[in-house]
Amino acid sequence: MSYIKDVKVKFEELRNKKDVTILAIESSCDETAIAIVRNGREVLSNVISSQIEIHRRFGGVVPEVASRNHLLAISNLYEEALKEANITINQIDAIAVTYGAGLVGALLVGVNFAKGLAYSQNLPLIAVNHIHGHIASNYISHQKLEPPFVCLMVSGGHTALLKISDYTKQKLIGSTVDDAVGEAFDKVARVLGLSYPGGPEIDKLAKKGENIIKFTVSNALSKTYNFSFSGIKTAVINYVHNKEQKKENICKENVARSFEECVTDELCTKSLRATKASGYKKLVIAGGVGANSMLREKMTNLAKKENIEVYFPVLKYCTDNAAMIGSAAYYYIQKGLGRADLSLTARPTIDL
Ligand code: KG4
Ligand code: ZN
Repeated sequence: MSYIKDVKVKFEELRNKKDVTILAIESSCDETAIAIVRNGREVLSNVISSQIEIHRRFGGVVPEVASRNHLLAISNLYEEALKEANITINQIDAIAVTYGAGLVGALLVGVNFAKGLAYSQNLPLIAVNHIHGHIASNYISHQKLEPPFVCLMVSGGHTALLKISDYTKQKLIGSTVDDAVGEAFDKVARVLGLSYPGGPEIDKLAKKGENIIKFTVSNALSKTYNFSFSGIKTAVINYVHNKEQKKENICKENVARSFEECVTDELCTKSLRATKASGYKKLVIAGGVGANSMLREKMTNLAKKENIEVYFPVLKYCTDNAAMIGSAAYYYIQKGLGRADLSLTARPTIDL
């Protein structure tokens, strides 16, 4: 039988198979990652090669450099992932890969590796939306968590509120009209002279600072579920430049703390309001900024008062990884979605 016909049958069979073991690949930005996940919840292995150190000296991700380093890392990671899971490729039921959104050259490395592997092993290929992966990071973090819930998606590329009515059904109810929140963290960190990626650096510094500088977000969107972070980002940049021009000292800790308080207040207020309006009882956070300690603490306390259950991914699954892609792929398969053929290519932007 031809590859296409053969894997179509295999893909259909997976819906009724008791145990489904997926090898998943993620290379959308600066982490090359491969994981093996069983039945959407059990992570048998999760290996990551981070390029953070490589990009740090440039102050951000350099796309060309990212693609080359994905290429260098991916084959070894594949061997490692199988070894860590203590299984062979013959025990894998499907290959999943992030095909967007992300840096196109970086995505292409993962997509082409996945296509080669799927073809050579005669396995179904599942194309996964990176954002769906971030949402699924909560299924591998909380074994009992099930939809429906409201999801606050906060990463370097996205800021959105989504109504998740089922594993593969999501409705966008709000998003950023300009910068993603992670982007704002990274740019504020940069103006403060902190290293890349800025989010974790701001997080650390803010703990030592006081909330005494008056930064605000625009209230033009206050009645909606949309966000805007470019105003506060510019306000911080202007504050720092002003101080520098006047040769005044800048207390970086206070800047970080005041910025972080304002941004996390905005994220908490809108997500809790959206959850109450949805009638759902659960709020789930996804994406790299979900690692922020002030956001985790503030949201947990405020949600308790509203009788809303709040879930954050465990820290290792907040930022990019392949285990979350393997989990999302399992739920696609259950609904007969996501099957790709060898014409699959990378998509730099993609709808939620
Ligand atoms: O989800 P992610 O790993 O990649 C994207 O899909 O974008 O998110 C990366 C973003 C970066 O902007 C990074 O600065 C931010 O998540 N981030 C944090 C923290 N850890 C990572 N932002 C605030 N506080 C943190 N602790
Ligand atoms: Zn991500």
